[in-house]
Amino acid sequence: MHIDPLERKWIYVSLGMTGLFVGVILLTSFIHGVNAPSNVETIDSARLHLSKEFAEDNLGVEENVDGSIMVRMVAARYGFFPRSIKVPADTKITFRWVSFDVLHGVHIPMTNMSTMILPGFVAEVTTVFPKPGLYPVLCNEYCGRGHDHMWSNISVIAKQHWKQSSNKKGDSDE
Ligand code: CUA
Repeated sequence: MHIDPLERKWIYVSLGMTGLFVGVILLTSFIHGVNAPSNVETIDSARLHLSKEFAEDNLGVEENVDGSIMVRMVAARYGFFPRSIKVPADTKITFRWVSFDVLHGVHIPMTNMSTMILPGFVAEVTTVFPKPGLYPVLCNEYCGRGHDHMWSNISVIAKQHWKQSSNKKGDSDE
């Protein structure tokens, strides 16, 4: 079979471009810690208040014995609860999100946090906040008329200050 040399050249160019794009996607997803959702865990969204884990008293920040951090939060029209939490910078933090009503999303810029929060499922994401500061938490799935106003903040404090603070449960009671 005869392939024109010019045509052959362009076949290589297009294959090379495809390879380059796939490589860039793989590299950036590796660098930014992008994962496909893998946590298949169900929950009754209508009875969260009766569930052990997501009852109101259990929401917020919990520091485990080994120093790792677990955060449990509920997304509901139109907010993320608890309203404000504090977590340490430069530390692995596992977030467990559930919805109280409809489909929501959560996006925290400058982190790998971007996931859907489906009613009936627990979304689990592990992330690290690189620097102290106030990070916005945004809903990125259309969930109703208040969607545009569904956002809050997370205070990220320096690791050394976290150790000194006695803050165990993050729901701001100050
Ligand atoms: Cu919640 Cu959009």
